Amino acid sequence: MTVPDRPAAPARSPERAQLSLFARNFFKHPRMLGSIIPSSSFLVRRLLSRVDWEGARVIVEYGPGVGTITREILRRMHPEATLVVLETNDDFVDFLERALPDPRLQVVKGSAEAVQAELQRLGLPAADHVLAGIPFSTMPAALRERILTDTQAALSAQGSLLIYQFSSRVRSDLQRVFGQVESDFEPFNILPARLFYCRR
Ligand SMILES: C[S@@+](CC[C@H](N)C(=O)[O-])C[C@H]1O[C@@H](n2cnc3c(N)ncnc32)[C@H](O)[C@@H]1O
Repeated sequence: MTVPDRPAAPARSPERAQLSLFARNFFKHPRMLGSIIPSSSFLVRRLLSRVDWEGARVIVEYGPGVGTITREILRRMHPEATLVVLETNDDFVDFLERALPDPRLQVVKGSAEAVQAELQRLGLPAADHVLAGIPFSTMPAALRERILTDTQAALSAQGSLLIYQFSSRVRSDLQRVFGQVESDFEPFNILPARLFYCRR
């Protein structure tokens, strides 16, 4: 009697693999991630509606995670533009390097406060946009201050910082460093997100 072959385990979809990698890292570093799942498509669309896709040539993203926003930036951005992503988590850096082989993308293992040094190292001019979903409210105040002031210095004269957060706590720091801050809100996200837009 022949034993029938065992059915192969169903292959995991790329989306499920990303969710699982993100969730596993949330349990390892809850304060660094701030959320158990990546941003919703509603939040991504709302955030990216503020980007000047025609004009932007240097875009920076802090904390790309598994690339939920990164993919959409690459989909929309100019063929001659460069996207630099700064990520502190080794698992996410490895994943992004393998999952997004786009010559316009520079994946940097490092913290957001290295933005100016990294733009210089890569021979890039000041950034047109910096997008950030890193957990400003739970990081030490001195680090938050360094990241905000370095970001301001890394932006071009017309450049802007676009932030999404799960609390409004960073708002007063943004006001102090950037002056004017515009606010927005996206309810369709886990957790509902506050958005802040600042010009240099
Ligand atoms: C809420 S997750 C956002 C992930 C992804 N951008 C999204 O929208 O789904 C925050 C990310 O920021 C990263 N992160 C935290 N602090 C950072 C820092 N100082 N510099 C760069 N990345 C940081 C974390 O490792 C994590 O990937």
